[in-house]
Amino acid sequence: MAIALSVNLNKIALLRNSRPGNYPDPMTHGAICLDAGAQGLTLHPRPDQRHVRPADVRRCAQLITQYSGAEFNIEGNPFAAPLADYPGLLALVEETRPAQCTLVPDTHSQLTSDHGFDLTQDGERLLPIIQQLDSWGVRVSLFMDPDLAQIRLAKTLGADRIELYTGPYAAAHAQQDAAAETLLQSYIAASTLAQEIGLGVNAGHDLNLQNLTAFHRLPLIQEVSIGHALTVDALYMGLAPAVRAYLAICQGAVHE
Ligand code: PXP
Repeated sequence: MAIALSVNLNKIALLRNSRPGNYPDPMTHGAICLDAGAQGLTLHPRPDQRHVRPADVRRCAQLITQYSGAEFNIEGNPFAAPLADYPGLLALVEETRPAQCTLVPDTHSQLTSDHGFDLTQDGERLLPIIQQLDSWGVRVSLFMDPDLAQIRLAKTLGADRIELYTGPYAAAHAQQDAAAETLLQSYIAASTLAQEIGLGVNAGHDLNLQNLTAFHRLPLIQEVSIGHALTVDALYMGLAPAVRAYLAICQGAVHE
């Protein structure tokens, strides 16, 4: 089964933010990714705007309309309060209507997302948010650890998909640690359950050209969103060749 590749442009925005102005323009890079065949773009706006800014979200929504079938995925914390001209995740989604919104429990101080939701804690306050997104016709994905009880809760809340947090697997894989296989088995179990109960499955975090191939072993895996490693690979390979290298894996042309 082919996996859709959604390229996360936050790292391009981080480079842009190191100087005044809009160079490099993350949307120029977004267009290169889509021209190279990526099926989507992901932006993760945060209140501190350290990566993408609200203006990037608006421009990405425009850009994606020029590519038939391409999907815009906005990810972020729906509970993070508006700050300065950051209007909050829901306000940005309402305005720009992406194909998918991935809800992530990252706090203000976190360098990057590093765990999935605990729905026993957050389920009640997530429910009206999921219902609101659903009423706008936006697919809802919840960032989750491969915990089967939690994945059942995601279904009861009305989520459409889960995005499996793959950071620990990537770390173990990089160390050639046997834990990588154990973690992969937990993603396989999570994906099997999700498929049984009617949830879609995405995955993301620290995925790269070395560790991605194994995800074809999941019975259901619809999309990966990749930013950091793909941007680093682009420094060596060029952006379009890097996207094509990831796409070759996503399409199953590269084997473990
Ligand atoms: N998925 C989520 C929810 C994320 O927060 C991130 C990082 O912004 C990614 C996927 C992509 O991770 P990476 O940049 O390590 O590829």
